[in-house]
Order: sequence, then C-alpha cells, then structure tokens
Amino acid sequence: MLDRINALLSEISSYSITSSEELEAYRLRFLSRKGLIPELFDDFRNVPPSEKKEVGQKLNQLKQTALDRYTSLKLQLLRTEDSTQVGDLTRPAYPWFLGSRHPISIIRNEIIDIFSRLGFTVSEGPEIEDDDHVFTMLNFAPEHPARDMQDTFYISRISDEYSSPGDILLRTHTSSVQVRVMEHHKPPIRAIFPGRVFRNEAISARAHCIFHQVEGLYIDENVSFADLKQALLFFAREMYGKNTMIRLRPSYFPFTEPSGEMDVSCTICGGRGCNVCKYTGWLEVLGCGMVHPAVLESCNIDSVKYTGFAFGMGIERPAMLKYQVNDLRLYFENDIRFLEQFRTAF
Ligand code: PHE
Repeated sequence: MLDRINALLSEISSYSITSSEELEAYRLRFLSRKGLIPELFDDFRNVPPSEKKEVGQKLNQLKQTALDRYTSLKLQLLRTEDSTQVGDLTRPAYPWFLGSRHPISIIRNEIIDIFSRLGFTVSEGPEIEDDDHVFTMLNFAPEHPARDMQDTFYISRISDEYSSPGDILLRTHTSSVQVRVMEHHKPPIRAIFPGRVFRNEAISARAHCIFHQVEGLYIDENVSFADLKQALLFFAREMYGKNTMIRLRPSYFPFTEPSGEMDVSCTICGGRGCNVCKYTGWLEVLGCGMVHPAVLESCNIDSVKYTGFAFGMGIERPAMLKYQVNDLRLYFENDIRFLEQFRTAF
C-alpha cells in the first residue's frame, strides 16, 4: 500500500498539463469518485491495524498533495490562457494609422460649414429621381436638350421618343432637392443640399460621369438679387481667402430668372493670369439666380408673396484647385496612396 502511495506522489508532483481537457483528465484520474485516491481509501479497510496509523497519515498527505497540485495546475492554465488573449505585452506597438477623409468630403464639409454660419441648414434627396423633380417642375421645356439620353442616365422610360414626368433617372443636378424641399416646407427656407450627381459623359482627366454638387436655396419675403450677391461674396471670401474678388456674368437656367454664373479671382495667380485660369485671371465656380416664379408655383409657393435665390456648385473643381489634383479620375479610384495624403482634423 505504501509503495502505491509513493508511486502516486511522484506521478502527481511531476504531472504537467497544457489544456483544460488535460486538467480534467488529472481530476478524473486521481480525485474523482472512481479515481485512484478514493480507491486507496476503499482499500484502507484491509490494512492490518498495526500499519493503519502510518498508512493513514500517508494517505491523507497524498490526498492533500493531489488537491494542492490540482489548484496550482488550474491557476497555471488560467495564466497561460490570459496571456494568449491579451497577446505579448512586451511586444512593440503596431503603428496604427488613423483613417483620412476623402478630399471631396473635406471640401463638402467646408462648404457646409461656411453656409451654416449664414443660417443655412442641410438636406439631402434621392440620387434615383423622376423626370418631374429633375426637369419638369424646374421649368425645363419638354424638348430641352438636357433631357436628352446623351446627357441623362435613364433607368426606365415610359416612351422611347419623348420624356415623361414619370421617367426614372439618375439626377443630373442637385436642383431636384430644391423641388423636394419646397414641396414639403413652407417659406422661409434657407438650406443647402450636397450630393452626388450623374451625367452621361465620357470619362477623362477633366470630366466624369459621377460628380458632386452643393445646391443652395433661400426663399422668403423680399429676398433680392443683392442678398444673393452678398451671400456668394461671403462664401467666396471664406472659401478662397479674404482678398478674393467675384464677378457675375449673365447666364441661363430654366429654373432661375435672372440667372448668372459666378467667377472668383484665380486662386493660383490672384488674378494676374496663369495657365490654370487660362490667362483670364478668373475661375468659374457656380451657377445661380432668382428662383423662377413658375418653379415656386409648381411647388405651391405663392410667387407674388415670396421670392428667393438658388445656386449650385461642383465640388470636384475646388478640390482640384485646393489640392492641385490634375486628374478627376483619382477621386473615384479608391487608391489608398492617393487618399491617405488627405489627413485632416476636419
Ligand atoms: N443646377 C445647375 C447645374 O447643375 C446649377 C444651378 C443651381 C444654377 C441653382 C442656378 C441655380 O449646372
């Protein structure tokens, strides 16, 4: 009996484990009800009375050793499991880089920020639109060339020969959001609408079939062209620098009357003339005008009581100027080497 006890003592003291299954195997072998140690306790009955004292002590010692070993093996297992979860704490840290914003998002946020200081709120509308919101309610005549398949991506057309208010298409400008906002809100309205637009253009360094615009709309009593000019001058100086000059040239849009196009003094040469402004000293930045009364009426806004101005500008071009990007396609290629250059807190 003493020999068996001694053999188990030495087995236990050198027992090692690497998993919780092995720990359980240890418990089953030595400590469970059918394990080796309880078996020895059963056999204790047969030990001659003269040896009972010595064997009894040894047996209790064995049981205690087996229990202590169980506890220490369990602790050791917990410790190794912990460290595999946390990893090696002494290993040098990974250089985790923060993400960067897309240059188009940076410029869009800058534009939103400037107009929000003039009290403009932000709204968005759907990219998949109907003819009604993109053209008809904006006073486009049925035969207007912008409705041509050449310019507009149609998703479904009711007729092949002519466009109908129910045609579904990708919006070609963010002016459609003007209509959606005027349909659902009463004046005063003072909001800007950033978004993605689509035109059927061949893709090159200077043109893309997807680009971004920010539209602005201000409708109230007594809104005049002077308000438009002042808002745009404020915007130009905030965006392009406090010495920036603006000029307005007459233009035409079906949904504004009168209409204009705004140029800013060239941000590269300051107006002296360079190859970016083609030696004119000016850069064209946006289209604008007083909202056409027919547009107000199509949205059930009283065009005698209310007037308003609207403007719309692309985002890609100012971003190209600011970051000296010379190829529009770079904005859409998701090349991380291009994108990670635009680290900013904005
Ligand atoms: N929607 C016009 C465009 O895409 C821009 C514009 C908006 C002009 C609002 C006037 C008023 O070119």
